[in-house]
Amino acid sequence: MRVAGRLAADVLDMIEDYVKPGISTGELNRICHEYITKEQDAIPAPLNYRGFPKSVCTSVNHVVCHGIPGDKVLKNGDSINIDITVIKDGFHGDTSRMFFAGKPNIQAARLSEIAFESMWLGIEELAPGKRLGDLGAAVQKHVEKNRFSVVREYCGHGIGLVFHEEPQVLHYGKRDTGMAFREGMTLTVEPMVNAGKAGVRLLPDGWTVVTKDHSLSAQWEHTCLVTSDGFEVLTLGADSRNSS
Ligand code: MF3
Ligand code: CO
Ligand code: CO
Repeated sequence: MRVAGRLAADVLDMIEDYVKPGISTGELNRICHEYITKEQDAIPAPLNYRGFPKSVCTSVNHVVCHGIPGDKVLKNGDSINIDITVIKDGFHGDTSRMFFAGKPNIQAARLSEIAFESMWLGIEELAPGKRLGDLGAAVQKHVEKNRFSVVREYCGHGIGLVFHEEPQVLHYGKRDTGMAFREGMTLTVEPMVNAGKAGVRLLPDGWTVVTKDHSLSAQWEHTCLVTSDGFEVLTLGADSRNSS
């Protein structure tokens, strides 16, 4: 899981410089696909997963998650979540970050920052004996304090030899409820945060999830291991791996 997590993070480190006005989401997908299959000798988990047609998810502006890469060209100020899942030796590493093409708009930057902070507040709840509800409550509190909203229909998940497994990691909830974490569990924390209302809608392509009110949405994701006394984040970028 450490190897798979590091590889997934490496893909995000690699793609960052390509996110600029003028590039298409299909081109970003192609570059990630080549890197994963050729440089990493790994498998892009989304490709053909339940019929998903591409190797990564690209969710632009009001797209909440599962955006399908294609002809869409990024323009100055667009925000984009790139979600990478690689399989290495059977194990899955799953991570996503927000990027901006050109100059971020202030509202989008703020939304991304709060989503990032809420992901970390959730991760910091991971420890044996703490519970799923503690994690959800920590995320929800920070998001709502900042007058944004947490998407309910999609959540984090257990991960390992299987892409999505139990438990479901909700990003809202009540403290002292839900399953307790145990040492050795690996799971993702990946809150989707909307600038407007929490409601989402699935587009007719069967994958793309958008905000019902067309407000902006942001998401960050890490794959984490529950350790004897807390957690280890398996998908840190090279900067964060080297700085501690
Ligand atoms: N990577 C996404 C997650 O965080 C799942 C993408 S499924 C796909 O769980 F089929 F859309 F790729
Ligand atoms: Co995930
Ligand atoms: Co993901």
